[in-house]
Amino acid sequence: MTSFDPRKARELLDFYLDSGVETLVGETPVMRFAAATMALPAGKDPPRAMAAPGSSVDLARAAPGARQANALPAPEEAVMAAREAAKSAATLDELRAILDRFEGCGLKATATQLVFADGNPSARLMLVGEAPGRDEDIEGRPFVGRSGKLLDRMLAAIGLDRSSVYIANVVPWRPPGNREPSPHETAICLPFIRRQIELCDPEILVCLGKPSMQTLLEINDPISKARGRWFSYHTGKREIRAMATFHPAFLLRSPLQKRLAWRDFLAIKKALDG
Ligand code: URA
Repeated sequence: MTSFDPRKARELLDFYLDSGVETLVGETPVMRFAAATMALPAGKDPPRAMAAPGSSVDLARAAPGARQANALPAPEEAVMAAREAAKSAATLDELRAILDRFEGCGLKATATQLVFADGNPSARLMLVGEAPGRDEDIEGRPFVGRSGKLLDRMLAAIGLDRSSVYIANVVPWRPPGNREPSPHETAICLPFIRRQIELCDPEILVCLGKPSMQTLLEINDPISKARGRWFSYHTGKREIRAMATFHPAFLLRSPLQKRLAWRDFLAIKKALDG
């Protein structure tokens, strides 16, 4: 029997943290590949390493958590379900309640709570980031951490605050360890943020950072090239003036770029005043 070594345990925990593993989702390990073996067509053998009799991936003995993984709908099904669910929301409150009940995105399982929006739903300016981080996950509001504080200062510089803007994210659940949302997770969340924009119906939409710009404006240029220019965002009912600017988290790492972001914010102010 191996004895418990606190130093080794500490090292292992540090390794997990460095790798971005910081959320406990269950007491027993789960073999996620078990879900893949479930989906194999009849007559197809699973890879030997996964099918070894008596191994932890023996499906008959799969841990309860493995069933949880299987409970997620197939990717296209989840996107279809998200489209239907988002369409059915007549108000922002309804959309929030629908999202809170939605089980099609795996991120919900590891997030503490839904991070839907902050600010004024009647605002003329809506800002959309990528996904909540740790602070947002704890508080349930977007942009409340360090980058949020910088965003508040940038808004204050053009005479705005959270009572005069509406803020949301493309993905409303925190990805574990602050990793990037996968393309599949983003695709599932897209109908919801699109409906959120349509229901908020701002005069101006600002994408904070490249992932938000790519997803909402479908622009693949580097953000350094596309930022500060006006584009059209189509809600399906009307066109909204849209601009992308640097994400505040990037500005914290690259303070010299703040002067360009300042130009963008001045252009936004001018558009609101004009
Ligand atoms: N970064 C984002 O994109 N959104 C947040 O809410 C916080 C940080």
